Amino acid sequence: MINQEKILFQVKDLIKTYGSGDAVVNALRGVTVEIPAKELIVLLGPSGSGKSTLLNILGGLDRATSGSIFFKNKNLSTMSESALTRYRRQNIGFIFQQYNLIPSLTALENVELVTEISDNPMDAKHALELVGLAARMEHFPTQMSGGELQRVAIARAIAKQPSVLFCDEPTGALDSKTGRTILNILQDINQDLGTTIIIVTHAMATGAMADRTIYFSDGNIDQIKVNQHKLTADDIEW
Ligand SMILES: Nc1ncnc2c1ncn2[C@@H]1O[C@H](COP(=O)(O)OP(=O)(O)OP(=O)(O)O)[C@@H](O)[C@H]1O
Ligand SMILES: [Mg+2]
Repeated sequence: MINQEKILFQVKDLIKTYGSGDAVVNALRGVTVEIPAKELIVLLGPSGSGKSTLLNILGGLDRATSGSIFFKNKNLSTMSESALTRYRRQNIGFIFQQYNLIPSLTALENVELVTEISDNPMDAKHALELVGLAARMEHFPTQMSGGELQRVAIARAIAKQPSVLFCDEPTGALDSKTGRTILNILQDINQDLGTTIIIVTHAMATGAMADRTIYFSDGNIDQIKVNQHKLTADDIEW
């Protein structure tokens, strides 16, 4: 059991169905889970098992077909569109396999795009320093490597000081050495800023650095493993 005060998300009987009739897809089949604050959580599972669907619904990018999700004491499932947008803007950062940066803006300008519309942002330069890109602020996306682009994407996501960072296959397009650098940065953000981080990945070994590993299969949670002795990103066997 998780201490009630520590719970950030309370998810109950979450169902997500796409399409209808013969084309119906049951992406989530009644997910019930509690997600504690400040943990680093790794979500593993086969392709098509519903990992991205769950992340997108928790992050307010999509809505469930039925079931409830409480973020602290707010029920996301009954929120208006504008309240959901506000929730996402104030609380949630996203990182994807693709970096989704704006090519005509420098690294710094890409981050500033977010800090300019946030309630309580950190300085955009500081966000880039935290991901080790102090020397690349004036570079454009075409002038940076994949690992550097992902670091800009992380800086952009953390600059608004979200309480949760959702990472959907953040190392999926990177070689293993660069992937480890990215995991190291995510681990530092979790420890130093106290940001709750959920990482979806196909790299099973990543589970060893998590406080909690959630195993997904066929639209539901198969197993949750609490890790008493987590490893650092440097020590996981890739
Ligand atoms: N917009 C959509 N319309 C119809 N079906 C969808 C849609 N998005 C996802 N699905 C289906 O829902 C199921 C779960 O998809 P999801 O993307 O959540 O899987 P995943 O676990 O993230 O897979 P992967 O590891 O390949 O990214 C899949 O069968 C997928 O085809
Ligand atoms: Mg996915």
